[in-house]
Amino acid sequence: MHASLASIWWGLMAMFTNNVKVPVAQKPNILLILADDLGWNDVGWNNPEIKTPNLDRLASNGVILNASYALSTCSPSRTALLTGRYPFKLGLQHGVVKKGKPYGLPLNITLLPQKLKHLGYSTHAIGKWHLGFCRWEYTPTFRGFDSFYGFYSGSEDYYKRKTAAIRGYDFRMNTKVFKPKIKKYSTLDYGRRAVKIIQAHKRTEPLFLYMPFQAVHSPLQVPKSFEFKYRNIVDRNRRIFSGMVSAMDSAIGMTIKALKQRNMLTNTMIVFLSDNGGTPFFGGNNWPLRGSKATLWEGGTRVPSFVWGKMLLQKAGYTSNEMIHAVDWFPTLVSLAGGTPEKDVDGVDQWQMLSQRQPSRRKEFVYGINSITGRAAIRRGKYKLIEGTAGHYSGWYPAPSSRVVKMKRMKQLNKRHVNSTLLYNIQVDPIESNDLSAKYPHLTQFMLRRLNRYKAQEVEAFNPRKERYSQPKFWGGNWSPGWC
Ligand SMILES: *[C@@H]1O[C@H](CO)[C@@H](O)[C@H](O)[C@H]1NC(C)=O
Ligand SMILES: *[C@@H]1O[C@H](CO)[C@@H](O)[C@H](O)[C@H]1NC(C)=O
Ligand SMILES: *[C@@H]1O[C@H](CO)[C@@H](O)[C@H](O)[C@H]1NC(C)=O
Repeated sequence: MHASLASIWWGLMAMFTNNVKVPVAQKPNILLILADDLGWNDVGWNNPEIKTPNLDRLASNGVILNASYALSTCSPSRTALLTGRYPFKLGLQHGVVKKGKPYGLPLNITLLPQKLKHLGYSTHAIGKWHLGFCRWEYTPTFRGFDSFYGFYSGSEDYYKRKTAAIRGYDFRMNTKVFKPKIKKYSTLDYGRRAVKIIQAHKRTEPLFLYMPFQAVHSPLQVPKSFEFKYRNIVDRNRRIFSGMVSAMDSAIGMTIKALKQRNMLTNTMIVFLSDNGGTPFFGGNNWPLRGSKATLWEGGTRVPSFVWGKMLLQKAGYTSNEMIHAVDWFPTLVSLAGGTPEKDVDGVDQWQMLSQRQPSRRKEFVYGINSITGRAAIRRGKYKLIEGTAGHYSGWYPAPSSRVVKMKRMKQLNKRHVNSTLLYNIQVDPIESNDLSAKYPHLTQFMLRRLNRYKAQEVEAFNPRKERYSQPKFWGGNWSPGWC
């Protein structure tokens, strides 16, 4: 649709469907919140022990997406979310973009912020990038974002903004190295940054705010006041981790309040999801789902998620068990903004499902394909087929709540090695406890054939050696573009 026609259409839609005066030409604001390593059992609506009042309120007044899938690690999930394409088609299927590796998300692919920018949006990113930074062209402000406040790599100290293994400072305001005067806790700092952006926003333009939080990825760090909320939890990792979740909830609370104060909230579409499952040995938890982050089990890929949109969702206040995948957000949000997604994306527009409680347009998806590790999995309807090893931590890990559980021991107990072709019925067996491959050999063969069709589309994964010249010591102590 032509941009101006789209805006008129939006104005009319808003008037007819809601009977409320909305300035014509007002496309919905989009707030896309991506948590990092937040597991299934790490949010209030799946686990009452976790205190996420702001998220709970939005989730219960929106639509809880109970069958929302992402990739099993950071960079591949961000790829899917911002491009609508499976990472195995772009070379991003093998692990994450590690510090010092000279590659990034290919530059000839259009990202969500570029599309939304083109459709008249102000576009801002706050938090963790992790899609490559060896060259300026790979970084957020060169890829559709008007502003960026955050870090380029995958993890760092929440206060010092420094990376651990190879020491380096990684924090920027747009392209400039930025050193806050006080070493503030990143999660809350990101909330304050969102408030500033919202306060300064010109309301004649729609806003796209992408908030990929650092939280709740390791290292385990949180201000004492948040840890104190969980003083009943004996396990130290779990206690700090839970505090980190609540700090993120608090930052989201600030953001929502600012939108409300500026009368922008009612016309805002909020999407919340985690980039992958939790890491049990770093305090995260996916119970009762099987496995961990970086595995193709449900615990690594089925993520806490919801949508909220006061004026935008015609039906809300329920839990949806319809299937949705991270690749679907690109076409869904581009269409919502009045644009046309590229024909060859893997995602499908799920607006009917989200706004009107229609069935999902998705019957099938790929959990991951990686010919380097020989690991792959596919879902079709209620069945899931896993080929090769699903990943290292293949057990079920209960939350070490108020009881003392020696995580180290649990890690050993559950470090099983599974390497075969497995078939599960996720509808009746969401915890993947009953392999059906021997019982249904024909179905297994059928699923393998479906998987092979996708495998034929895999491109070679980026897997370069680390570039020595990437090291911060060559760049004034900062992780900085310029070495590829
Ligand atoms: C969410 O999914 C889980 C796992 O499949 C299922 O046990 C639970 O009943 C679902 N929740 C709702 C409210 O449908
Ligand atoms: C991007 O470039 C790659 C490598 O040159 C090419 O194979 C691919 O088709 C291009 N993709 C698009 C969407 O242009
Ligand atoms: C898994 O099994 C296959 C087939 O037996 C074998 O080729 C592969 O090396 C095994 N992978 C691992 C990681 O053990």
